[in-house]
Amino acid sequence: MLALRGLAKHYRLGEGEPVRAVDGVDLDVADGELLALYGPSGSGKSTLLLLIAALLRPDRGTVTLDGREITALTEEQAARYRLADLGFVSQKAEILPGARVIENAALKLWIADPRGAERRVRPLLERLGLGERLRQRADTLSLGERQRLMIALALSTEPKLVLADEPTGSLDTQRSREVLALLSEVCRERSVAMLLVTHDPEAAAFADRVAELRDGRLTDYDPDRAAIAQRTA
Ligand SMILES: Nc1ncnc2c1ncn2[C@@H]1O[C@H](COP(=O)(O)OP(=O)(O)O)[C@@H](O)[C@H]1O
Ligand SMILES: [Mg+2]
Repeated sequence: MLALRGLAKHYRLGEGEPVRAVDGVDLDVADGELLALYGPSGSGKSTLLLLIAALLRPDRGTVTLDGREITALTEEQAARYRLADLGFVSQKAEILPGARVIENAALKLWIADPRGAERRVRPLLERLGLGERLRQRADTLSLGERQRLMIALALSTEPKLVLADEPTGSLDTQRSREVLALLSEVCRERSVAMLLVTHDPEAAAFADRVAELRDGRLTDYDPDRAAIAQRTA
């Protein structure tokens, strides 16, 4: 299980007041739980994910995963943790355009097991509806298919935790729902915990629980306020 305690990160730019991007966050995410983290642009969502991924060091507080203090890892340990225990899905599908679909999906596994990587990732690509596309170049895929390829890459190492930062931000409503439904189904099947960052109130419907971030602090999620914010955006 993931536990955040008193987590804070302030950005200092020149002389002025620091930006309190993450400002004292306590949060638990259980094994296999899908938590949607909702919040407007600038509320600190991406900074929070960077702290959990050990890509950024907090000013205060701790991140632990299954009792292991992530915020105390060395650079090398953190790199290993990201490779083995974490999956990432970001807004932009960062594919290698000249490589085939299956080669893209096998990239993380390839580091530990170059010969077995493609065989191991294949069932996951099939589960994600890309079974007919394995040998195609990744740049021939549609946006929705590229996002599914990124999900395959994220889940390929059987991580404990998936961090998804607005994973459907570049998709239309219909595609966005399909991708979110698939992402949440596959995480549930595999008991993978997921922190799904979004500013789309619709996305919250796929979660077990919703938390809201405002100015770097967690607050109770208010679906009505979220719906109004969405309509006036
Ligand atoms: N590297 C950085 N340096 C300085 N300020 C930053 C940096 N990254 C983010 N911020 C600021 O921190 C706040 C939170 O940003 P971010 O975590 O990206 O929020 P969100 O993902 O919710 O849009 C914003 O005010 C943003 O401008
Ligand atoms: Mg962000």
